[in-house]
Amino acid sequence: MNVPSLRARLGRFPRIPLGACPTPLEPLERLSAPAQTALWIKRDDCIGPAMGGNKARKLEFLMADAQQRRARKVVTFGGLQSNHARLTAAVARNLGMEPHLFYFEPRPRELAGNLLLASMLDAKMHFVPLGRGGGMTLEATNRLVRLLAWLFVGRAYFIPVGGHTALGCLGYVAAAAEIHSQVEQRELRNVTVVTAMGTGGTLAGLLAGFTLLHSPIRVLGIDVGKLWKGCPASIAHVAGEVCALLGEPQTFAPADVPLIEECYVGPGYGIPSPEGNAALRQIAQCAGVFLDPIYTGKAMAGLLDLVAEGNLEGDVIFLHTGGIPGLFAFPQIITHPT
Ligand SMILES: Cc1ncc(COP(=O)(O)O)c(C=O)c1O
Repeated sequence: MNVPSLRARLGRFPRIPLGACPTPLEPLERLSAPAQTALWIKRDDCIGPAMGGNKARKLEFLMADAQQRRARKVVTFGGLQSNHARLTAAVARNLGMEPHLFYFEPRPRELAGNLLLASMLDAKMHFVPLGRGGGMTLEATNRLVRLLAWLFVGRAYFIPVGGHTALGCLGYVAAAAEIHSQVEQRELRNVTVVTAMGTGGTLAGLLAGFTLLHSPIRVLGIDVGKLWKGCPASIAHVAGEVCALLGEPQTFAPADVPLIEECYVGPGYGIPSPEGNAALRQIAQCAGVFLDPIYTGKAMAGLLDLVAEGNLEGDVIFLHTGGIPGLFAFPQIITHPT
């Protein structure tokens, strides 16, 4: 399938344009890399609205669906610094819907970063300190939270954590088409797109998109959370569902999912790592670009390590998935850098 026909298939789905697309693809010229490697950054942090990030692309499809179903309330959940929750709340407010956000940790004494922005949006924030349910699959967690949310909120449009549904992932199929075109325009060769992996929806959408386009572009996910049991299986399943939605059924096996698990997570999901913080400062000081300590800093640390070890060559595109509000929840990264 070529880019116009993929876009035509995507055009069959209701969609609320949220992102300023295409987002820029910029060279990271001052970041040192071996001779055979060139580093680029794809600026989905600049996508808008409400401080941007990857979830805007997923919400274009999910919130259009919510609107079509005449939803008055929208429910989702995530970690305390969930960018997805912040962005869902912002888009819901803009569409006149009431956002409900669930967090499975105690309410912090002070609300910082994404939590501060969510409270500014007057999102209904439910802190239910049950813990993260470690060891469960993402699908089982979604089922459980959906039930809980129904008990707390009643009738509402439920968006799984991270917007991780086939419909939401269409946003990253559209991004795959966008990247494919930018790569062709710049005549880049031997291209790998590297992205942080939380729920895996971004990775699933890109994998499905590049596969449908028969694109030579590879994608690589870097696990930043060690969050769910059976991540590759879940991503493979969603990528297959995405292709089926677009009328081109494909089967992906867990082994087809290009993912580095656990290596760059650091102390755990939601906890900054020294390597991630160092990468964050390096990118700020070499490129004037801010990353975040929970997702993109850790993924960039992985990218830089893979490049330094000679495990990643050619044109390497870092997908900046946003998350900058999270930076303000961890001021010690800046004030006590080591
Ligand atoms: C800034 C940022 N980057 C990356 C991710 C990971 O995206 P995904 O959940 O689609 O794997 C998330 C959310 O989980 C995020 O907020």
